[in-house]
Amino acid sequence: MLDTHLTVRTDSPIGTISPRLYGHFAEHLGRCCYDGLWLGTEQTLVPTYGGFRKDVVDALKAMPVPLLRWPGGCYADHYHWRDGIGERVRRLGLSCGLQVEDDNTLGTHEFMALCRLLGAEPYLAGNMGSGSVQELCDWVEYCNSGLNTSLAAERVANGARKPFDVKLWGVGNENWGCGGNYDAETYAREYRRYATMLRHVDTTIELVACGQEDEWNLKFLQTNQRWLNLMDHLSIHRYWIHGGPELNFTDEQYYGLLSEADETEDFVKRTADYVMDALGTSSHRIGIALDEWGVWHPEARAWGPDGAELHREPITYEQAGTLRDALSIGVTLEGFHHQCNVLTLANLAQIVNVLHAPVMTDGAAMWVTPSYYALQLHLPHIGAKALPVDVTHGATMPGSSKGVSAVTATASSTEAGVAVTLVNRHISEGASVVVNVAGMSRVANAGLLAGDSPRAVNSAQDPDCIKVAPLNVGADGAGLWRIELPAHSMATVELA
Ligand code: AHR
Repeated sequence: MLDTHLTVRTDSPIGTISPRLYGHFAEHLGRCCYDGLWLGTEQTLVPTYGGFRKDVVDALKAMPVPLLRWPGGCYADHYHWRDGIGERVRRLGLSCGLQVEDDNTLGTHEFMALCRLLGAEPYLAGNMGSGSVQELCDWVEYCNSGLNTSLAAERVANGARKPFDVKLWGVGNENWGCGGNYDAETYAREYRRYATMLRHVDTTIELVACGQEDEWNLKFLQTNQRWLNLMDHLSIHRYWIHGGPELNFTDEQYYGLLSEADETEDFVKRTADYVMDALGTSSHRIGIALDEWGVWHPEARAWGPDGAELHREPITYEQAGTLRDALSIGVTLEGFHHQCNVLTLANLAQIVNVLHAPVMTDGAAMWVTPSYYALQLHLPHIGAKALPVDVTHGATMPGSSKGVSAVTATASSTEAGVAVTLVNRHISEGASVVVNVAGMSRVANAGLLAGDSPRAVNSAQDPDCIKVAPLNVGADGAGLWRIELPAHSMATVELA
């Protein structure tokens, strides 16, 4: 049994945890958008809200989904928004090597309706790879203009009297790769042209530029040093690919995946440091947009470690989501909270059926993965003030070269009280944890996500194998709370 003491520093808030850090990503890829979210209005398989699966939407609302990025991913750089309004165009849908017939029945108006159903802020990824500056300017005008232009009138004729007022616009996606194989300098110059023109159309939009790793980010920032005010967010992506098989991973691979998740914070911080250096004394702010993140198992990719041997044919981008994957979310969100002053948005990839999905469907069946519950356990932190948590005594996670504690936690406060989410990363040992939180007198709510094995999954046949259960929290003296955490588990305690 691991013995751990944690202290929540209620008097030193780090910053506010923006709801945008709890964003999601819906790409026209595999069964994410079509089938997972959208069935259209002419089917009878399951009830829908105007074509969107009711069971999926209801589950997502309760998760929740404060921000939703669409329509790609790599798909964005082939997407022509006019195909998805009015009379629909049946076009080749292209992303990540898949070619599908895309009937474009899920277009701009449907996506906005989905965001309204979910209570999500829309984030549109624009096409730089195969589009034009004018095409993207037109999409912004179509969505946001309140003037009596032909484009705005077309939007009204298509059913939306009020502008959609979309704030977040991506200028391309992964333009160092699928979005055109640009080099950083060429993309930087192209970005500048797009951003200048887009800002003329709507001065209030926030533009997201495509970043990558250190070298690209530095070159991009240097090339656009004089025009940094044309950028509001710098997009980076992080998929964890070193965790071995989705289900039959070794203990070492279990820790490997959690360490990779842990390192996401360093990547965010390092990228933010480059941005800060570039900005120097300027009062302009550029946030880091981690607009794709999560686990990408070898079964769902032909590239990367183990992908050549383990991938399934055909690649559908679907993978099993275990309790280990859920814990990796908890580890990552700790980092998001630490970096909430520089990380301005984040999108888990992807929202249904594809990659690190919290919700899965199969025909009429729908179930949620352990990762769904991991996100739901973080609900009290959304919009709250992040608080530092010190590990004042604890054991090191096996295999951690950085001396990371086996039990870690993140905390936040609102007027209602303090919420603490704990992760016991140890694969086989339970932990007895004392959490020190000054000034709280009672437990308002406490839930535990645990299972017999970190390899456990939910499925259509066994949808409730892993779910949140009530947790007992003992009072252990003034401001001290005792929590027993099983091995490989996560818990949230809300104190009032
Ligand atoms: O999420 C799947 C793909 O991963 C996206 O389309 C792309 O942006 C990334 O490479």
